Amino acid sequence: MEINIAVVPVAGLGTRLLPATKSQPKEMLPIGRKPVVQYVVEELARVGMERILFITGPGKASIENHFDLDNELIQVLRQNGKEDLLAELSFERAPLQYFYTRQRQQLGLGHAVACARPFVGGQPFAVALGDSIIGLNAQSDVLGRMTRCFLQKKAEAVIAFTEVARDRVPYYGVAKPKDEGGVFELEDVIEKPRIEDAPSNLVIAARYIFAPSIFEALEQIQPGAGGEYQLTDAIRMVIQGGGKVYGVQLEANEHRYDVGNFDSYFRAFVEFALADEKCGPTLRKYLESIL
Ligand code: UTP
Repeated sequence: MEINIAVVPVAGLGTRLLPATKSQPKEMLPIGRKPVVQYVVEELARVGMERILFITGPGKASIENHFDLDNELIQVLRQNGKEDLLAELSFERAPLQYFYTRQRQQLGLGHAVACARPFVGGQPFAVALGDSIIGLNAQSDVLGRMTRCFLQKKAEAVIAFTEVARDRVPYYGVAKPKDEGGVFELEDVIEKPRIEDAPSNLVIAARYIFAPSIFEALEQIQPGAGGEYQLTDAIRMVIQGGGKVYGVQLEANEHRYDVGNFDSYFRAFVEFALADEKCGPTLRKYLESIL
């Protein structure tokens, strides 16, 4: 069995990044040279995904345009002797098929993933949040490791986790692992717990592999934390129904860059810009001079 469908939810309102996200999606904010969602798609292509379904919403048309072929621009670059810039558009030709469906009301991530059901049908699939990059320049194989775990263990779901400081756990879905290690079985997963109730410091890190059973759970959940349909609640239901669900930890070089708030957005931009081959060294000198 192969997993080659990836669902990329990009329908969220991005209110924590206002005013930057008033008329542009947060998933299109640049980190270094590329918009966030381009890194996400490049990661998906590298781990063998072939069909990408974006769950879009109002004001997200620029994402669709970004992954489309822009023959007019290619022609202009050629006519103006700027052939060297054509390489910057090579991602348009990646061997991927793009699909789009609208989440017509922003009722949360669980609701966004449920919108994929008619497309995905009865196959296992990946979910990659469109606002989170894994690893500097998206150099991560975590979805590859998760896919292998899913197939070997005949799991119902595999979720990426990363460790955070204790005071950060109330912002995320938190693991209650059954055992220790880079790959562990989950006893439970809790959305946005209070610090004192959190069963660990391991939080969900924007990547998932699901069997189609997640859709049945998504149909049954009620609005949870923040009045939204929480994907975490559906995962919990799968575990409580006897399904095997595993966690795979991000490795040291697989930092999660969450472009959901300004603090982590600024950090991600600076880190990627510093790693830029052309501009990084001079930026480093400049930053040193002003700090
Ligand atoms: P967030 O949890 O950061 O929510 O989404 P948000 O609504 O975008 O942001 P805030 O809280 O208003 O600042 C995580 C990912 O899930 C998608 C987002 O687009 C983002 O990629 N999402 C979220 C949806 O597709 N639909 C939703 O209803 C909520």
